[in-house]
Amino acid sequence: MAGKAPEEGFTAEPFVPERGGLPALRRAAADCRGCPLHRDATQTVFGAGDAHARVMLVGEQPGDQEDRQGKPFVGPAGRLLDRALAEAGIDPGQAYVTNAVKHFKFTRAEPRKRRIHKAPTLREATACGPWLAAELAVVEPELIVVLGATAGKALLGSSFRVTRVRGTVLEEEIYGRRERLVPTVHPSSVLRADDREAAYDGLLSDLKVAARALG
Ligand code: URA
Ligand code: SF4
Repeated sequence: MAGKAPEEGFTAEPFVPERGGLPALRRAAADCRGCPLHRDATQTVFGAGDAHARVMLVGEQPGDQEDRQGKPFVGPAGRLLDRALAEAGIDPGQAYVTNAVKHFKFTRAEPRKRRIHKAPTLREATACGPWLAAELAVVEPELIVVLGATAGKALLGSSFRVTRVRGTVLEEEIYGRRERLVPTVHPSSVLRADDREAAYDGLLSDLKVAARALG
């Protein structure tokens, strides 16, 4: 489409197979070179969970633990998310969890020092979008829970503001399909918050909106 070409040619598009379910997508994503983030990361962290899940959760990008284990939300943020989901009445085992960006982006203060998470750019999230589009087309969830600003911008555009729309049910056209979405904060932001209890309660109350929307 005119004017919509991904900037500087970063896109996962040529790596996404046209046919096949999640296993085929996962295999192909392992070899994605759609943007420079694959270079320093250990592996692609593709989405995980029930292929027919009613709810899809979309985070930002894998963290350190996810990068090592190759699975989304297995670190501290994931544990907090699982607890909040269960408390809200959404079975984490029946959700599909994924990220807007499928490779871990990080910096190091010094060589061999701990890897520090670095937020992906909108350009990187846009490059990785074809994987998310393919996951949505296969899973066809009834509801998407948008975890934080990176996922929100990737799905809903750069004007997305989590504070403005969190805890509401949105209906938007995403990658050519009509989707229902409930945005909330990223679980990592709860772990970083000064008042963790208040931040957790906020996340929980947004997830309860999602649980009600699922019925
Ligand atoms: N944060 C994310 O956004 N995704 C993960 O998979 C882990 C932490
Ligand atoms: Fe491909 Fe996404 Fe990894 Fe970039 S971040 S190389 S687009 S899978």
